[in-house]
Amino acid sequence: MAGLYLHIPYCKKLCSYCDFYHILYEGDKSDYISALCTELEARRDYLGNEKISTIYIGGGTPSLLSVKQLELILGQIHNQYSIEENCEITIEMNPDDITPDYLAGIKKININRISLGIQSWRDADLKLLNRRHNSAQAENALRETFKAGFENITIDLIYGIPGMSINEWSSNLDFSFSFDIKHLSAYHLTFEKGTVFWKMLEKGSIKEIEEDESTSFFNILIEKSENAGFIHYEISNFGKPGFFSKHNSNYWKQVNYLGIGPSAHSFNGYSRQWNISDVKAYIKSINSGKPFFEKEELDNRTRFNEYIMTSLRTMWGIDLDYVEKLFEKEGYDYVVNLSGKFKDYGLMKKEGKYLILTNQGKLISDNIIAEFMMP
Ligand SMILES: C[S@@+](CC[C@H](N)C(=O)[O-])C[C@H]1O[C@@H](n2cnc3c(N)ncnc32)[C@H](O)[C@@H]1O
Repeated sequence: MAGLYLHIPYCKKLCSYCDFYHILYEGDKSDYISALCTELEARRDYLGNEKISTIYIGGGTPSLLSVKQLELILGQIHNQYSIEENCEITIEMNPDDITPDYLAGIKKININRISLGIQSWRDADLKLLNRRHNSAQAENALRETFKAGFENITIDLIYGIPGMSINEWSSNLDFSFSFDIKHLSAYHLTFEKGTVFWKMLEKGSIKEIEEDESTSFFNILIEKSENAGFIHYEISNFGKPGFFSKHNSNYWKQVNYLGIGPSAHSFNGYSRQWNISDVKAYIKSINSGKPFFEKEELDNRTRFNEYIMTSLRTMWGIDLDYVEKLFEKEGYDYVVNLSGKFKDYGLMKKEGKYLILTNQGKLISDNIIAEFMMP
């Protein structure tokens, strides 16, 4: 079992908050598609004999590719790799790229999970975020996606946007749950260096929301999603039973994955590597057979820290047996000793062999995780 991630870095408009690697879309991208196909072939041995159980096409904006281009990429994956029968194939889509024809096309090529970047149902937020779509387009896109027969639909929302009230966040959630979505990713807005929002923050033309407001937003999210039948399985992810993101869950469970395209990361248990974040240099290197990635061999301490960082964010928590097996008595004692005070404060609980954050703990997960990092 392994994952395959493909990065499509193009966007028609740059969102004010986003620091994922992306560049402006300027028409036909056949040179890029052919570079992706070359990389897929060149790296076919990276995962050994493991079968691909999930494919995730992310961005940027993958829905800027035509169905034909997506078909070409998926065809190459099938030529070069061995794919599990019920492979989860996700594509991130921007609401204003959605048309009935496009949906029918991607369904035909067996894409079976749609991730819609709604972000907010409020036009004022969408404007501030510099999104291409408005709320009416988002609603129409979601309805069309259901109409096209997709069952596994997830949406992305952002909260903590300056100017968004608690009531407005609450309405955003109610409206989302009025649809039969099976999954929700809800992210607290973060201000990332190099983004338009970061510059606005520096100039003082935008302000981060207060910590107690963040807490209220998060609590409403937990309460409403639970009432709507969703399971809070990762800090920012909520799924109906049977509809957790298999691809992302695998990242959090240390399953190996291969990342194709500029800025994409790969992991095989012992090393991590990441492709250069520059489309032109990426295409040039791929075509001339030059290296296009950097690599880090993971020492035990890094593997330990990565495991804690990912597992603590999930409902499954830290598996103490796994810690003992991989990091021996030293790692086990370190975790158990440190967890004592968090349990006393009600921030963490032990269920069998698992150490899990409580809802209270999830609110300050970043601080708790930081304390667990081995120096
Ligand atoms: C790589 S983006 C997906 C791109 C997708 N094409 C879209 O619709 O924007 C993944 C998600 O991360 C979230 N995200 C990205 N940057 C963020 C930030 N600075 N703060 C909060 N959420 C963010 C957004 O919800 C976004 O949909």
